[in-house]
Amino acid sequence: MHKNFKNIDKVVFGRGSFSEMENILAEKRNENNRFFLFVVDNYFKGKDLEKRIPVKPEDIVRFIDVDPHEPTTEQIDNLRDEVLAAKGLPAGVVGIGGGSIMDIAKAVSLMFTNEGSSTLYQGLNLLKKPGIYHLGVPTISGTGAEVSMTAVLTGPVKKLGLKCDWTVFNQVILDSELTASVPVDKWLYAGMDTYIHCIESENGILNNAYSHAYAEQALKLCREIYLGEHAGQTPDNDDKLMVASMMGGLSLTYSEVGVCHALSYGLSKILGDKHCYANCLAFQHLEDYYEEGVKELKKMLATHKVQLPQGLAKNWTDEQIAAMAEVAYNLPHMWNHAIGTDWKEKVSVDTIKELYKRM
Ligand SMILES: [Fe+2]
Repeated sequence: MHKNFKNIDKVVFGRGSFSEMENILAEKRNENNRFFLFVVDNYFKGKDLEKRIPVKPEDIVRFIDVDPHEPTTEQIDNLRDEVLAAKGLPAGVVGIGGGSIMDIAKAVSLMFTNEGSSTLYQGLNLLKKPGIYHLGVPTISGTGAEVSMTAVLTGPVKKLGLKCDWTVFNQVILDSELTASVPVDKWLYAGMDTYIHCIESENGILNNAYSHAYAEQALKLCREIYLGEHAGQTPDNDDKLMVASMMGGLSLTYSEVGVCHALSYGLSKILGDKHCYANCLAFQHLEDYYEEGVKELKKMLATHKVQLPQGLAKNWTDEQIAAMAEVAYNLPHMWNHAIGTDWKEKVSVDTIKELYKRM
């Protein structure tokens, strides 16, 4: 009945803390075949940060374009197979990037030691063996992927995480200097993911003093960052958002997400929308469930002059809407939390289709 969640083993926080990485990795370099796999957001190719990554000649660096789609099971399997074929088992995996890169680093670290396709392990506690050492450096704050127990992957059948204790990072480096160059729309969408984590965590039957304390503080930080006297992308606010992201993640780890995340999964699975953006598309129409939260999110978007598209649903086919509703309906833990144990009496696939038609 009570969750027994795994936290990150070690955390470094602070501006400039990226330079701690070399020393941190030095302790692990003698493991397995004595090289590291770095997975880095393609955005940083050719940028200053690339030169600061403590890469040794034996290491493998992969720049990954995360824009086309969310991480897929096929992408993880291929990366694992290529690295194993080239050099065998790495000492560890380092992920440098946003939520998608965090998920790729977590997932591939598990798949190095678990045989077969990652599709076999989408779900709770299906992994057979611990993965290899993995370190995460978020360069966009908001998804909470740096702290969560899951590595969300889109497979041929489902969009679902590899979720277990071993998924959690062994180490994270939280250097908010790295988030300074995030474009305003991504800064806002990712921050809204944190905001929505907190609203959903708070509004449901699994909320409790532990999840509430984290959500309350993370919401306070979000309000300062997006609506406060010194709102905007400032160094101070970058620090705050990095902490809010982690706290939002910890809040939902001990509670649950809700209606918005269920709908968002449908949008990502069927239309390929990115997680944070999909959340915003859905959340703006959920006043029936999160009235105050929806008002406040709209105010945050308006303050920073980011407009979400309207009338999207008229271009979707009935089949697409039905498929999205099916994905969302099959996330019972989210509906159970948001609506209650009798949620099936209140929410049907048709109810969910109507929610998509508002978008
Ligand atoms: Fe999320």
